[in-house]
Amino acid sequence: MSNKITAAITAVGAYVPEYRLTNKELETMVDTNDEWIKTRTGVEERRILKGENMGVSEMGAPAVKELCKKRGIDPSEIDCLICCTVTPDMSFPATANIICYKIGAVNAFGFDLSAACSGFLFGVTTGAAFIESGRYNKVVVVGTDKMSAIVDYTDRTTCVLFGDAAGAILLEPNEEGYGVLDSLLKVDGSGEPFLHMKAGGSARPASFETVAAKEHYIYQEGPQVFKFAVKGMADISYELLERNKLTGDDIAWLVPHQANKRIIDATANRMGLSMDKVMINIQRYGNTTSATIPLCLWEWESKLKKGDLIVLSAFGGGFTWGATLIKWAYNTAIGELLAT
Ligand code: UT7
Repeated sequence: MSNKITAAITAVGAYVPEYRLTNKELETMVDTNDEWIKTRTGVEERRILKGENMGVSEMGAPAVKELCKKRGIDPSEIDCLICCTVTPDMSFPATANIICYKIGAVNAFGFDLSAACSGFLFGVTTGAAFIESGRYNKVVVVGTDKMSAIVDYTDRTTCVLFGDAAGAILLEPNEEGYGVLDSLLKVDGSGEPFLHMKAGGSARPASFETVAAKEHYIYQEGPQVFKFAVKGMADISYELLERNKLTGDDIAWLVPHQANKRIIDATANRMGLSMDKVMINIQRYGNTTSATIPLCLWEWESKLKKGDLIVLSAFGGGFTWGATLIKWAYNTAIGELLAT
């Protein structure tokens, strides 16, 4: 019997801009304070991509380059690059194309995927399906968002939350059962009124009026989104465990989207996980939308062991949400790549 092909994560890369926007600095910009931000969100500082004409490809490209270097491959070996973002360099062409061009991924096709804070999960599931089909051998999924480009720094209810970053993974075929094992993904467009950007799309193209009315910034009704996020992320993570006949004890790590420390705590609690099994770096980066999950994998990579069962979980604008179960494929600590 031939083994089923699964899509194993075989390398992780990331890029975080140098500039740190601290809660202290935000106190000088809007009516807020370090204590409120820390206790209500968990954020202490976030990174900001500074400079003229710097789009998300400036972060996505180095993240993918790092990943190639770690895996010891040339970018020309990449078959497909999925760029998950809600802040593309421009409406078109796709940022995936620009990243491929910048890194020399001359044999790849690619496209952008828009699912807000769940973008990376949707990208991983899509990329895994390409690998499982047997058609492609190296699929890169990069989550890259420059939230500072769409944040209104006079609105204290949103500007304290977000930051800029990129994270990327490489998916490759595996015949020993490592990699993406299951995914539950959902969308509900009735959530649109609570979290969106009003103008700049085809429904409401940019005009002097839209700019004057600040309609090119994130609009969020925080408490409404919070309510849906707590329930959505916790329930779907629990459902994923149940459907795979697992309990919290079987899970080595929860890798949650980093939107609010309180949403993360609720998800871990529902899954029956102790907090020492939960990756949390919201205090250093804030909510980087598509980049939060790969950024966690990047920071925790050396602690991950071959065979660890990990759950990725997210909730975001749209609404979009989901959870993905992964069997980790390699031990970085001993420099041993066991995935292929
Ligand atoms: O990743 C995409 C999905 N997004 C999310 O998951 C975000 C979900 N929402 C949240 O995380 C939370 O709703 C927020 C962190 C955005 C807000 O926290 P909250 O506990 O829901 O606060 P709130 O909006 O109910 O505001 C409570 C109070 C208000 O004052 P009053 O009306 O009680 O006097 C706000 O005006 O806190 C005030 N407030 C602030 N105070 C100081 C709101 N923002 C700030 C601020 N600094 N930055």
